[in-house]
This record gives sequence, C-alpha cells and structure tokens, in this order.
Amino acid sequence: MKKMDKIIIRGGKRLSGTLPVSGAKNSALTLLPCALLTDEPLTLRNLPRLADIDGFQHLLNQFGISTSIAGARPEDFGRVMTLQATRLTSTVAPYDLVRKMRASILVLGPMLARAGEATVSLPGGCAIGNRPIDLHLKVLEALGATIELAAGYVRAIAPDGGLPGGRYSFPVVSVGATENALMTAVLCKGKSTLHNAAREPEIVDLCNLLVAMGGQIEGIGTSDLTIHGVDRLHGATYMVMPDRIEAGSYACAAAITGGDVMLKGAKIEDMEATVQALRDAGVFVEPRAGGIYVAADGPIKPVTLSTAPYPGFATDMQAQLMAMLCLAKGSSVLTETIFENRYMHVPELNRMGARIETKGRTAVVHGVDTLTGAEVMATDLRASMSLVIAGLAAEGETQVHRLYHLDRGYERLEEKLQLLGAEIERVGGD
Ligand code: EPZ
Repeated sequence: MKKMDKIIIRGGKRLSGTLPVSGAKNSALTLLPCALLTDEPLTLRNLPRLADIDGFQHLLNQFGISTSIAGARPEDFGRVMTLQATRLTSTVAPYDLVRKMRASILVLGPMLARAGEATVSLPGGCAIGNRPIDLHLKVLEALGATIELAAGYVRAIAPDGGLPGGRYSFPVVSVGATENALMTAVLCKGKSTLHNAAREPEIVDLCNLLVAMGGQIEGIGTSDLTIHGVDRLHGATYMVMPDRIEAGSYACAAAITGGDVMLKGAKIEDMEATVQALRDAGVFVEPRAGGIYVAADGPIKPVTLSTAPYPGFATDMQAQLMAMLCLAKGSSVLTETIFENRYMHVPELNRMGARIETKGRTAVVHGVDTLTGAEVMATDLRASMSLVIAGLAAEGETQVHRLYHLDRGYERLEEKLQLLGAEIERVGGD
C-alpha cells in the first residue's frame, strides 16, 4: 500500500458472490489498548489487516509492549496478534503518532489505570469534524484523575492511593469516551457507574473482553454501566467481532449494482438499523447460517432517515447508503446528527452525475437514472467507500485517488470486490 495508490473501477458489472467480513476496526482499536491493563499476554484473533491497526501496534510498541503476529498466510483475511505489557518503558503517546491516528486517545484511560499517569498528545480534528475530547477528560476526572493540559498534550494523573472510581452521566453519547471510561474503571479501587454510555456493539465487545480478563461489569449492552474495580486483570484470548460497517458497505455495493452478496460472518443483530434502511430501500436482506444474504430486489426506493447513536442508524454508514440512494426512484432525505462535516462525499458524487443538495446537516438525494465514472478524490474513510460504491454502478471508468483513507478501514478492498466479480484494480500512484 503506497500513499499515492489509486483504484480504477470499470462500473456496470452486477456483483454476486460470497464475501468474508473482517474483524471490526472500531472494536480492534479499543481492544488493543487493553493489553496495558495486565502484564500477562493478551491474544486477539480476527484482527483486520488495516493501516490503523498497524499504527496502533506501533504506538503500543512505543510503550514497551511486545507484539507478535501469529501465522497469517498472505491469502488469509485477519491476523492473530499477541501483546504483552510486561513492563512499560514510557507512558507518553507522542504527537507524531497521535496526529496520524486520533484513536490513539484510547490509550489515555488504560495507561492511567495501569501506570497511575498518562500523557497523550491532543488528537487534532479530522475531515469530518473537530472531534473534541472534553468528555474523555471529564469522565476520567469523575473517576478521580487529575487532568492537566499543556503544550498540546493532555496528562492524566491518579491519586497516590489509586483511582477511587466514581459516577458520570454523559451529556452526549460518546463511543470513545465510554471506552476510555470502561478501560479505566475496571482497575479503580471502588465502584463506578456510567449513565448515557454508548451502547454500540464495539462497546459490548470491549466489555466482553474486560470481563474475560477478570473485570466485573454490569449492564453490558445498556446505557447504564456499573463497574466494580478489581486489583488486577489477567490475560485472555479473544475474537474480535465482525465489522458491521464493512458488512453494510458491501451490502450497499451489491445492491447498487443489482446484484447479491452473502456476507460471511456478519451478525444481523449488530446492524438492525442498517438492515431496516436497506429493506426500506427495497433491498432483500435475510439472515442465513453464518452470515447475512443481501440481494437487489427491483428498483431502489428512496429512504428518509437520520443518523443516531446505536441502536440508531450508524453515522459510519451514512455516506455508503447515500451512494446507493443516488440511483433510487425518488428523493431521499438524510440527516447527519453526529458529526458536523460528514458530507465531503457529496461534491464528488455530484461530479459523477448524482443530484444531491445539502443544507446544514440535511442532504436531499434526488435519484438519477445513471451515474458516470470520473476521477474522484477521497477525503475521509467512509466518504472514500461511498465513491467506490458509486463507481461500481457508474457507466465507464472511475479512478479513486488518495487510497490511504480507504486502507485505514477496509481490509483488501479491491480483492474482496474482485471476489464479487467487480472490475477493479489498484495501481501505483503517479
Ligand atoms: C467512534 O468515534 C468511531 N471511531 C467513529 O468511526 C464513529 O463515527 C463514532 O464513534 C460514532 O459512532 C472509532 O471507534 C475508532 P464519539 P468517536 O465520541 O469515539 C462528540 C469511522 O469511520 N464528542 O462517539 O470519536 C463528537 O464530536 C470512524 O470508522 C464530544 O463532543 O466518536 C461527535 O459529535 C469515524 N466530546 C459525537 O460526540 C468528546 O469528548 C460522537 O463522537 C467526544 C465526542
């Protein structure tokens, strides 16, 4: 994967076949830092082969954590990684690593819980919004930490006797802040309660791992979590959940081409809002043994929906659904309630012949009969996938540049789409 790689798609092919769904990026990125919570080995299976996972591994190595990848053959999807934080050589996450991957903020809580202090460069914003971390800091303070901000870094410090734990009610649902809170509370001295906590399946995956490591958590899967602190956690071997956003993305890809796909490993209970949106759009969706079967079933129908915290429709699926709705018979209305700037894909889709109007947080997608291939520029992870989805259905050739966005979140994308019969290839950047 080189920075200036691009993907060339010859659109119009009906996609059909079976696709292995990889481990969930947004689960893996919160399971990896759990290695800090014990000096015993943590083995994670079904880790997706993604740039963000490599970046996180490198960050953890900076702290002195050993990591080893077990027997992945080149043709395999997913990897097994064993991590061990026998002793830490640093408690600082430096700017040059954090700026490349804002999920690095997820080491703040576990490092604080393990070492009694943690210093992390403040993650900048990104294309979809300024991504503040105020809720991460407020919940750690509620658990007893002292927070200092200086020179672009945040430093969290535990009292000498250890973090007492505490109670916090989130004013806004935050996946990352809930994750930092959980990874800290498990090793507090006392009990902690979190209210209006995020309920995403990735949070449940994190809770299940922490329990497997000896953590005591009640209310898993609900927005009210009670964590009874324990003195220490032990190692574990754990399977990362399947990626519900990847699965939903490929469902849209199959549907827009009039095709069908068996999403092997996908769990329908993790993605009911996405399934409902696909069914509302006239797409056939059926759980099958070992996955989910998705098939176009007549013309795509327009859909009106708003993104929302789980179990609402995932903001991470908005761009991909919008791409599919470009060819609907009628106008769809999508409202993005989570991030302030998550319509970067719209101008590029319009360059492919879509007719989308945005006004603040709302986008009106007027269905058109055809899309035409074009050279397009990826701006962020999910926007990039929406351009690939549009390119698969467009007449002619589409070139998607700046593939590093895509490589952060989609494991071997072109190989997977080739499995479905897509005419797609990756070429080295000019
Ligand atoms: C996670 O980001 C995901 N990333 C995002 O996926 C996803 O879009 C998001 O959750 C929402 O589901 C990972 O899991 C690595 P939030 P996160 O904290 O934790 C505001 C992708 O494409 N907020 O739930 O950063 C924030 O600005 C990525 O895979 C605060 O105000 O999201 C946003 O409006 C993109 N203060 C809202 O809350 C805070 O301290 C939800 O953000 C934290 C968040």
